[in-house]
Amino acid sequence: MSARRSLAAKLAALPHEERQRIWHSLSAAERQQLAYEWRFWARPEQLAPPGEWSTWLILTGRGWGKNRTGAEWIRAEVESGRRKRLALVARTAADVRDTVVEGESGLLAISPPGFRPEWEPSKRRLTWPNGAIGTTYTADEPDALRGPQHDGAWCDELASWRAGPEAWSNLMMGLRLGRDPRVVVTTTPRPVKLVKDLLADPHTVVTRGRTYDNLENLAPTFQRTVIARYVGTRLGRQELEGLVLEDAQGALWKRDLIEAHRVAKAPELRRIVVALDPSGTSGADSDECGIGVAALGADGHGYVLDDRSGVMSPAEWGKLAVSLYHMHSADRIVAEANFGGDMCEQVIRGVRDAEDRPVGASVPYKKLTASRGKAARAEPVAALYEQGRVHHVGVFAELEDELCSWEPNSGQRSPNRLDWLVWALTELMLGDGGAENWLGYLSAEVARQRGEIPAETRAAAPEAAEPATLHPLIEEPVRPWMEDQAAFSGGQK
Ligand SMILES: Nc1ncnc2c1ncn2[C@@H]1O[C@H](COP(=O)(O)OP(=O)(O)OP(=O)(O)O)[C@@H](O)[C@H]1O
Ligand SMILES: [Mg+2]
Repeated sequence: MSARRSLAAKLAALPHEERQRIWHSLSAAERQQLAYEWRFWARPEQLAPPGEWSTWLILTGRGWGKNRTGAEWIRAEVESGRRKRLALVARTAADVRDTVVEGESGLLAISPPGFRPEWEPSKRRLTWPNGAIGTTYTADEPDALRGPQHDGAWCDELASWRAGPEAWSNLMMGLRLGRDPRVVVTTTPRPVKLVKDLLADPHTVVTRGRTYDNLENLAPTFQRTVIARYVGTRLGRQELEGLVLEDAQGALWKRDLIEAHRVAKAPELRRIVVALDPSGTSGADSDECGIGVAALGADGHGYVLDDRSGVMSPAEWGKLAVSLYHMHSADRIVAEANFGGDMCEQVIRGVRDAEDRPVGASVPYKKLTASRGKAARAEPVAALYEQGRVHHVGVFAELEDELCSWEPNSGQRSPNRLDWLVWALTELMLGDGGAENWLGYLSAEVARQRGEIPAETRAAAPEAAEPATLHPLIEEPVRPWMEDQAAFSGGQK
């Protein structure tokens, strides 16, 4: 998979005199044009392949030049007049603005001064001098893609789209202008279903590549942070080599299982927790803070609602946890206590909002103590997945990468996203706050009904609201018993 070189690189490799001779044979205008001549700078793999493809799937390592390639394809199609109505789709509104449009290799930066589109962020619209229009969309809002029609599209980081399948199918339905509508997809090769489906589609052409192919154009900071972080790791094969990873042999989670039970929307929820696996310090090298939101549905299944992990200072994760708590109307924040004793609670309690109100002071908080090793805690949670009882509401790319690549007992550094998830689902579905607590409540209720304990001592429901249905965990064993009871009391009449 070694990359071929660009014309620019070949020219640069010539002996000095030869290079000078060629350079001076060009007119001043031609030399100026070269600055924006993509066919000069592009490695051959970065130019659109020939043939009758409808999707060009660019599946490469980080920093390969995916964005540059996507942007240059859009520009070439617009400049040639081949396409006039373009959809530009990225995961979030911030991604589409900061990367696709305004990024260092985005559409504005790569356009020559004489053919630069006008950007109207409030209308989410780019207008090129020849009248072609590009509209930006975010995969998080797939409904906006329902209706508008396009003759071309560029989709960035498709494998990380939260509402991927829905956004993609809406886009495809509207991609029907012109005789030959086409889409370019640029993405890190995460093995999600959407990517696998595209790979299997005979109308897709695939370009693969490694981070190292573009090494000479990558900033030293990129080399220090991204490459250093992944080199020699299993995930590095995805992030740097651009390979579609199969599941790690010893990993507790499997991609197919997460995929099979993924849902687009959460059902009615009974309990919601924000879980934290805090980091102590901030800085590029420090650990990520694992933080996310999960819920117990009225159906007794677990739902993963959000993953907001990242490198953060305590002040930042404290704020984020409290704002997630309010945003999701959560029931409580849970956090690992082993870290810094009660420091975590102090951070949460101290959070104040923009108007200096103590919004963290009264948030219900529970510290969790790790009495068992990481693997022992993770296994029962992974087992819930195997039973099909945990659903990801949308795609959580980095979280899923961690789940499916972490091999317990392999000595790998512990992943923080996995940690928050294990805490959250343990709390919701396995621990004191989960079924056991619920059973305690139920048995007290039954005892009260039977007059064994007075009504005043009625146990508080684990949560304020009464559940709409019985917890399925207990519904099955209880139902025959209840039917027996009915038959029994019927017989007595
Ligand atoms: N053929 C090329 N010649 C010169 N510079 C290039 C070339 N290809 C890419 N670049 C530059 O390399 C840098 C990284 O490219 P880009 O941002 O497109 O990569 P990416 O694959 O989208 O990265 P990420 O994985 O971070 O999303 C950018 O500055 C881009 O302009
Ligand atoms: Mg990119």
